[in-house]
Amino acid sequence: MSRELTQHRFQKIWIPSNDDEPVVCRRSGLGQHLAKAPTVVVMVGLPGRGKTSISRQISRYLNWIGIPTKVFNLGEYRRVAVKNYSSYDFFKPDNESAVEIRQECAINALGDLKSYLTEGGGHVAVYDATNTTRDRRGMILQFASENCFKILFIESVCDDANVIASNIMEVKAVLCPDYQNTNKTDVMLDFQKRIKCYEARYQPLDSGNHERDMSFIKVIDVGQRFIVNRIQDHVQSKIVYYLMNIHVRPHAIYLCRHGESLDNLQGRLGGDSGLSPRGIKFAAALARFVKTQNLKDLKVWTSQKRRCVQTAQDLNAAYEQWKALNELHAGVCEEMTYGEVKDKYPEEFALRDKEKYYYRYPSGESYQDMVQRLEPVILELERQENVLVICHQAVMRCLLAYFLDKNADEMPYLKCPLHTVLKLTPLAYEWNVESISLNEEPVNITDLQAHKTSLHTPL
Ligand code: SIN
Repeated sequence: MSRELTQHRFQKIWIPSNDDEPVVCRRSGLGQHLAKAPTVVVMVGLPGRGKTSISRQISRYLNWIGIPTKVFNLGEYRRVAVKNYSSYDFFKPDNESAVEIRQECAINALGDLKSYLTEGGGHVAVYDATNTTRDRRGMILQFASENCFKILFIESVCDDANVIASNIMEVKAVLCPDYQNTNKTDVMLDFQKRIKCYEARYQPLDSGNHERDMSFIKVIDVGQRFIVNRIQDHVQSKIVYYLMNIHVRPHAIYLCRHGESLDNLQGRLGGDSGLSPRGIKFAAALARFVKTQNLKDLKVWTSQKRRCVQTAQDLNAAYEQWKALNELHAGVCEEMTYGEVKDKYPEEFALRDKEKYYYRYPSGESYQDMVQRLEPVILELERQENVLVICHQAVMRCLLAYFLDKNADEMPYLKCPLHTVLKLTPLAYEWNVESISLNEEPVNITDLQAHKTSLHTPL
């Protein structure tokens, strides 16, 4: 067969895409063979096993690294179909009318998920539901095959009664809309009965080798152990790697910028100057603040720049320097003031204001580049417990955007002032952020930007 003919045939089957877009394919069953077919992540597990939390974390991470991802939670479809939740009775396998409604909701969610992956710009869709029977998974596999989507199953398995009880008390009783205005004892009783409704028909992944050819990861006992099977591609490997790094132990991540530097005093970009007298005072205030937190085994990470290392020096703790934490490199504009940039490179100045996330300084970096180099820092932060990161404005914005699930438009404008520590602590589905000003009033850099526009913020 000639090369032209082969290409022609393939073009009819799928629509060619850029490297960072998924392939939209038209031939049933082909999805598994394409490197870039969209992926449906299918959650599996009994109620109360942390599936929604895992779904949201995966989505936050993939969106942050630039892979558009959305969660489709079946509970939300059910709540639209049946406005008022009455009790676990709804989930009894012999409640025929409810079974019908649940099936309809499952199909509607798959329809929306399909629109997102084929017309909505999505690369990954997370189908957040119990999917505990082989029948239900068979239906999803059939749907994926017809639409040329790849499937990755993620099953959360946990039989530890204490873990399940605390999940019901801390997550379901507080956040689940089914239990608004219900006392915690009643939530516990109802939810346990809901779990029983599923247990009788539960068919875990890979029992009896039924799913041995499928791609899946089983997360056992909240990440104590994993079983990984037939991972197919880059996106799936990323998800598996991510799941193997996150944990649920209580901890805090502290983010701050270095103290005010001598370059800050003149409004200069980048460079490697030391701290100003106010910056030195901030370093001392930071050390006092850290003491008040009574942290066991605090890890301190800084960039390799002098102003960050000096900020860590009063802490009385070992600190590690990361090159990845260095400030966004402003290329030919390094060590210039914004006024100088505007005078010397007016086009660059205007371009940066237009698309700040994607804008790359000539011979320098963009926010998008920074996310790439900060990915190992994020993964390592997820593995650790208490960590203080002393970094720079653009770096702090990128890190903060990950934890707060901010998109590329919002990231370059997040507020990360000098001499302020942000304390991040994990909640069930998101991170809480507390802002602590350490009161060493730094120079107002915006005053130094004679040519500042309304959107333009330093770096
Ligand atoms: C729900 O309705 O809350 C979840 C349904 C399911 O995934 O089984």
